[in-house]
Amino acid sequence: HGTSKINDKGHLEIGGCDTVELAREFGTPLYVFDEALIRQQIQKYHEAFQKSGLKYQVAYASKAFSTVAMYKLANQEKMSLEVVSEGELHTAVKADFPRERIHFHGNNKTVSEINYGLDENIGCFVVDNYCELELLNKLAADKGKTAKILMRITPGVEAHTHEYIQTGQADSKFGFDLNNGQARTGVEKVQELNNIELLGFHAHIGSQIFDVKGFQMAADKMVNWFAQVKKDFGMPLQVLNLGGGFGIRYHKEDTPLPVGDYIAALSETIQAESKKLGLDAPEIWVEPGRSIVGEAGTTLYTIGTYKDIPGIRRYIAVDGGMTDNLRPAMYKAKYEAMVANKANETKLETVSVAGKCCESGDMLIWDVDLPAVNPGDILAVSSTGAYGYSMANNYNRIPRAAVVFVQNGQADLVVERESLNDIIKNDRIPERFL
Ligand code: LLP
Repeated sequence: HGTSKINDKGHLEIGGCDTVELAREFGTPLYVFDEALIRQQIQKYHEAFQKSGLKYQVAYASKAFSTVAMYKLANQEKMSLEVVSEGELHTAVKADFPRERIHFHGNNKTVSEINYGLDENIGCFVVDNYCELELLNKLAADKGKTAKILMRITPGVEAHTHEYIQTGQADSKFGFDLNNGQARTGVEKVQELNNIELLGFHAHIGSQIFDVKGFQMAADKMVNWFAQVKKDFGMPLQVLNLGGGFGIRYHKEDTPLPVGDYIAALSETIQAESKKLGLDAPEIWVEPGRSIVGEAGTTLYTIGTYKDIPGIRRYIAVDGGMTDNLRPAMYKAKYEAMVANKANETKLETVSVAGKCCESGDMLIWDVDLPAVNPGDILAVSSTGAYGYSMANNYNRIPRAAVVFVQNGQADLVVERESLNDIIKNDRIPERFL
């Protein structure tokens, strides 16, 4: 998959780099990103949209994996950027990301975050609620600016990996509800505000979705709403942002479709509905995160101790865990793994992979088939590129792992490993303790 293969030594190789060497050079745990695979995923979005003929933007959803290097890459590949905090915005500024292609999300943007966005003249704010509309209008007025916005709508479609549900009233902290009049009242409010310009609407129905149906239902509702607002309010709207959520393969049970299928289904719905409504199709924005970086990431760990529970299971422990990958503990997420230095071995046994944190729930994988391992072997867990590093934490005062990008046999450090001194750098000692 991607540029991954097994080399002559029987080691896992990614981007032309031997992962056993990478572990030695950079230490473990180590996030390894297959740069070519990230670029390839982005190109699939471009190709699918170009085929549709729609005007579009593909915004990278930062929350999946935010670093300066990733933003540089996203810009090289002509993506826009979705940020949800001033930390992500600051990362984008440091990456010199073109401000007009930055979209700022969040259900509780602070005054300082809004001001940062206004000062940087970002492309748009995705406004979540009435309070924010008024605050943004005031802060923009204070600066003598007009803020471009999308309004985030809760369309009453909620999708989960395998099923979708249509709710009359979406019980969500996000957005203006379409079905109870909130969205309409929001547009009325926008009309009264002098320092706000409404570009269009946004909806995001969920994440790690495999089926196209939920996307089509949301697209259908959103284009109808878009047409209605244009007609009733005479506003020159241009944009419909249909969010992210396109699923990936973590585990053999996962059945995502190719990216192009999701975009084709969305585009066809938009075009067909627009035609029916006598509307020029709006410009379509999407904001994928997971499907851009998820499968491109692999985490390398060094295997340490093991423990046998006779007749039940063998635990093998690695030098990371819920500090570098919170997803198994938080969502019971399933992953696959291999032993990077024993990639050709065919005699396998079923074991469970434990993290090193002081918490029974810190299990990375329950039941995975691996060759017999020894301390010092390198475990490679695949599909860890999204929501791994970005959700990393310092529980048990474990330093955050390093990140490398690999391509054409070259490995470049893009995030340095935290040091023990980084761990205590914000600690202060009250004078009376000295
Ligand atoms: N746009 C909005 C408004 C979102 O809320 C999200 C994800 C995305 C785009 C990107 O969705 P993606 O294409 O990555 O599925 N921490 C969780 C995922 C939380 C997703 C939150 N929003 C996880 O590890 O699975």
